[in-house]
Amino acid sequence: MKVLHVDASAKRERSNSRALSRYFIERLRSEGVELDIDYLDVTVDIPAHVTEAFAIATYTPEQERTPAMKETLAASDALCRRLLDADALIFAMPMYNWSMPSAFKAYIDNITRTGLTYVNTEDGRIEGQLQRQKTVFITSRGADLRAAPFSSMDALTPALKAAFGFIGVANPTFVDAQPLQFSDQQARIEALERAHRELDAVAAQWANEPSQVEADEASLTA
Ligand SMILES: Cc1cc2nc3c(=O)[nH]c(=O)nc-3n(C[C@H](O)[C@H](O)[C@H](O)COP(=O)(O)O)c2cc1C
Repeated sequence: MKVLHVDASAKRERSNSRALSRYFIERLRSEGVELDIDYLDVTVDIPAHVTEAFAIATYTPEQERTPAMKETLAASDALCRRLLDADALIFAMPMYNWSMPSAFKAYIDNITRTGLTYVNTEDGRIEGQLQRQKTVFITSRGADLRAAPFSSMDALTPALKAAFGFIGVANPTFVDAQPLQFSDQQARIEALERAHRELDAVAAQWANEPSQVEADEASLTA
């Protein structure tokens, strides 16, 4: 299974979301899944913010782009290719100020691309191109947003669902580790245990479900 693994926490050794994404990968391996991992740390290879040149180039039809426009889009093209090449996507990030880390938002701005991650069909629809990729979002949160008073403040889950739904990820799995900071020690321990159990279940599911490619091959030979 070709996996794109993306981390986005500003923290390194102390990061819970990084530890959880590593744990998930170990669980996949122990389920017998052979992994070919493409790793991206968006806090190290920080995707560029949208510039005026990017905004113009991205909406210029490919055949009309100048060499300078192609150069402007080259890094974003490469990020899109890494997504399209993967069979499965693992995104791990903390909640920052109720939403995503800004480096991950910059990543989304780079991977939402006409003609690459989504296409405009002849009958006027928009078709996301990441329909075959299994996808998990592993998020870490300081507060527990499952209940009041914080439940109405989750701007992270809907933002990820909208951005990735648009490019074809219809049913991503979310494993939200919470509360990891604004709570007593016992609640933090339980939150991590819950996240581990949920990740165990997702790893077992990924190991037992054929990939879209395998399913297509099986239906062709049936
Ligand atoms: C700049 C910053 C902003 C944060 N904002 C929120 C927030 O809005 N809501 C929340 O529940 N936790 C918030 N937290 C707490 C983190 O989400 C939490 O500590 C998480 O476990 C960090 O993940 P990490 O260990 O992978 O870095 C914030 C932390 C930082 C550093």
